[in-house]
Amino acid sequence: MIPIRDSDQAVTEPVEIRRLGPAEVHEHVDALASVLHDCVAGGASVSYMWPFSHEDARAAFADWADDVERGRRLVLAAFADGDLVGTVQVVLAVPPNQPHRAEIAKLLVHRAARGRGIARVLMARAEAEARAEARTLLVLDAVTGGAAARLYARLGWTTVGVIPSYALYPDGRPCDTTVFWKAI
Ligand SMILES: CC(C)(COP(=O)(O)OP(=O)(O)OC[C@H]1O[C@@H](n2cnc3c(N)ncnc32)[C@H](O)[C@@H]1OP(=O)(O)O)[C@@H](O)C(=O)NCCC(=O)NCCS
Repeated sequence: MIPIRDSDQAVTEPVEIRRLGPAEVHEHVDALASVLHDCVAGGASVSYMWPFSHEDARAAFADWADDVERGRRLVLAAFADGDLVGTVQVVLAVPPNQPHRAEIAKLLVHRAARGRGIARVLMARAEAEARAEARTLLVLDAVTGGAAARLYARLGWTTVGVIPSYALYPDGRPCDTTVFWKAI
C-alpha cells in the first residue's frame, strides 16, 4: 500500500496501485468500465462521445486486455479501501525506431475519488513501470487548462504546445489539447 500524501506530506489515506494482467483486467472489467463511464458522463474528453454506455466501456477494456496479453499496453489500477477508483495505461506499442518511448493514456479517476492525490500516485507508478520496461521517454496529451494538464505540469512534464480544437468533449464541443513529454 502506498500512502497518499498531501502537499504537507501528511498521510491522508492508503491506496494500492496494481499492474493488472489480462485476466485481472477481465476480472475487474466492471469496475474499470464504471470509472471510464463516470469520466465520460462527467464530460471528460477521453476519446468517447455521449451517449456512452457501461457496455461500451466494458468493450473498450476487453480490447485493452488483448493489448496487455500481447505486451502492447500496461493497465494499472488504483484501489482505495479495496474499491477500484482509478486507472492509467502505458502504451508500449511504438514504431521500431522508437523503442525507448512509451505513451501514457487513459488516466481516469472516478468523480467520487478525485482531489485525493490518486492520479498523482497512478502517474508515479506508471513512470516506474515504464522505466522497468526500459522506456526513457514518455509522451501524452491532455485537455488544455484542465485538471490533468495542471497535474502533469506539477509532475515535471514539459509542454510541447497547444493544438486548437484537436478533439471534442462528449457533448460535441471542441477542445484544445496540450501535448507533453517527460524524460524518465
Ligand atoms: C485528471 C484526473 C485524473 C485527476 O485525478 P485526481 O485523482 O483528482 O487528481 P489529484 O487528486 O492528484 O489532483 C487533483 C486536484 O486535487 C488536489 N489534491 C491532490 N491531493 C490532494 C489532497 N491530499 N488534498 C487536497 N487536494 C489534493 C490537487 O492539487 C489537484 O488540484 P487542482 O485540480 O487544482 O490542480 C481526474 O480529474 C479525471 O479522471 N478526470 C477525467 C478524465 C481525464 O480528463 N483524464 C485525463 C486524460 S489526459
